[in-house]
Amino acid sequence: MAWQQLVFSASAIIAEQLNELLMETESLAVTMQDAADQAIFEPALGTTPLWGNTQLIALYDQHVDLQAVLAQLQSQFGSLPPYQITEVAERAWERVWMDEFKPMQFGKRLWICPSWCTPPDPTGVSLSLDPGLAFGTGTHPTTRLCLEWLDANPPSGLSVIDYGCGSGILALAALKLGAKTLSAVDTDPQALLATHDNGLRNDLHIATFLPEQLPPLSCEVLLANILAQPLIDLAPTLANLVRPQGRIVLSGILAEQAHKVSAAYQTWFAMQEVVQLDEWVRLTGIRLS
Ligand SMILES: C[S@@+](CC[C@H](N)C(=O)[O-])C[C@H]1O[C@@H](n2cnc3c(N)ncnc32)[C@H](O)[C@@H]1O
Repeated sequence: MAWQQLVFSASAIIAEQLNELLMETESLAVTMQDAADQAIFEPALGTTPLWGNTQLIALYDQHVDLQAVLAQLQSQFGSLPPYQITEVAERAWERVWMDEFKPMQFGKRLWICPSWCTPPDPTGVSLSLDPGLAFGTGTHPTTRLCLEWLDANPPSGLSVIDYGCGSGILALAALKLGAKTLSAVDTDPQALLATHDNGLRNDLHIATFLPEQLPPLSCEVLLANILAQPLIDLAPTLANLVRPQGRIVLSGILAEQAHKVSAAYQTWFAMQEVVQLDEWVRLTGIRLS
């Protein structure tokens, strides 16, 4: 056992009062959550409404004497609401998502496999991935939209830029699908590290750059899964990186933002059909001469 917690079930008013007292104990964190799945919509300005049936959870180091904490609370508060003491097993919390990360197929041939799994289809194109702390496992629709595009349009023999590379998932997929050269760009050094490491994991060397370090170059395919506003701001920069007749693939865009993003790229690209997955869309365009 690494930690222990005190879990109270209380009305909103009691939870709020008890919360103050719990914060004065040796608690590492105190959190409140709805115990009855009751949503709170649009609280009035300046108010912090709590749920009618609130669960109040105080987390402690395993060495703290919780009986002494309870005795102290009782002396300050009087009769305490119902509570439980629970143990919290030690886990690498930032890695809990790993349990959910399984091999996934994109399009016909492409597989993303967690680095700790064996590829399920030996005839497919499989890449091994450990995103570390960077974005990009393939579970998000915006990434899926790009991976499905790559599977349907393998960049065989082409030069590719992955702008906003995160874990490097799109860069790796492009290389595995035959890209001749690959440059990965991100503002986050953590992402560049994850991309580099994922390259090595797949016996591939990926050149990574902060945006300001990117040397003058141009590509035949540019992938950018970022968000609508940065994509709009980056339009001239990205357009400059794509050769005439080259293709751009934009993702990270909500359906209602498609028009604005598309408009920002129309000066340089013949924009093509919009493809939607859940509330997200993928835009593609061909660079005008
Ligand atoms: C949604 S993640 C996409 C990660 C991965 N390419 C994927 O498809 O799953 C967006 C990435 O873009 C990076 N990013 C955000 N703004 C950027 C900018 N202006 N220039 C370059 N990278 C940016 C973020 O740090 C993040 O790693």
